[in-house]
Amino acid sequence: MSVTSENKFQTGLMLELEPVVAKELDRHLAIAKEWFPHQYVPWSIGRDYDGPMEGEAWSVEQSQVSPESRDSLIVNLLTEDNLPGYHRAIASVFGRDGAWGTWVNRWTAEENRHGIVIRDYLTVTRAVDPIALERARMHHMEAGYEATHGTEFLHGAAYVSFQELATRVAHRNTGKVSGDPVCERMLSRVAADENLHMIFYRNLIGAALEVAPNETMRAITEVVTQFEMPGTSIDGFMRKSVVIANAGIYDLRLHHDDVLVPVLRKLGVFDRTDLTGDGAKARDELGQFMEQLDAAATKFETRREERRARKAARQG
Ligand SMILES: [Fe+2]
Ligand SMILES: [Fe+2]
Repeated sequence: MSVTSENKFQTGLMLELEPVVAKELDRHLAIAKEWFPHQYVPWSIGRDYDGPMEGEAWSVEQSQVSPESRDSLIVNLLTEDNLPGYHRAIASVFGRDGAWGTWVNRWTAEENRHGIVIRDYLTVTRAVDPIALERARMHHMEAGYEATHGTEFLHGAAYVSFQELATRVAHRNTGKVSGDPVCERMLSRVAADENLHMIFYRNLIGAALEVAPNETMRAITEVVTQFEMPGTSIDGFMRKSVVIANAGIYDLRLHHDDVLVPVLRKLGVFDRTDLTGDGAKARDELGQFMEQLDAAATKFETRREERRARKAARQG
């Protein structure tokens, strides 16, 4: 397709899907429970920091959460913090008119709540170094955010379907390994929101599959095979993601089993009978990719088990 006919196609599709957005928005507003970040933060254990308040500076032994969860909490928070970048990316894909615009703004407001509650929790409990955190936030936001999937509507919608579920898994597992029930409760609350976001986008991409099966299938395949979590521009992202994977907070196995497979199954991509030409080809490519990913996940798990066993033997 030429650029103009591609644009026409995307605009036409979005117009056709606007009633779906309106319906999904209503459904979201009906089931999303109002909640308040300040109620999830243990303010009574807080005390002043150094600087103008002349309190006590942060040091690592004050942190009561596990070291793995510290890395993950930082990555998760910086990802939530970069919201203006995502808002711009999503608004430029979805536009700001009608139900699309209403959704984008609502979504942004909810994501902001996540950043608020995680930062308040981290600062009050002294879970992470607040100075390093602030410097990392500045650096990360100054780097900005450019979507790897470009500005095409189908790619954008497919990407967020998987990404929201990925953040849900990451938040929930971070809570579990944190060793702090207050942290776990707070992150479970955030994870519940991410699940609703995932459902919104997944239903949208499901409707797109009905309207334009082949093009939507191609977009899904491209997004899945090139998937990158947001946050790759965070300082030390590689090292942090290794820690996160080794701790089982987010790894290839979870990415395959708990993120990609459930969304693809719900969309029924492997059972569809309406794919032809490039759409059918895209599905075959996706099938192959999923097999390779499954094998890579198993390999990763085996290596991780071996490393853990060696470590246990050394310590035993
Ligand atoms: Fe979020
Ligand atoms: Fe979300």
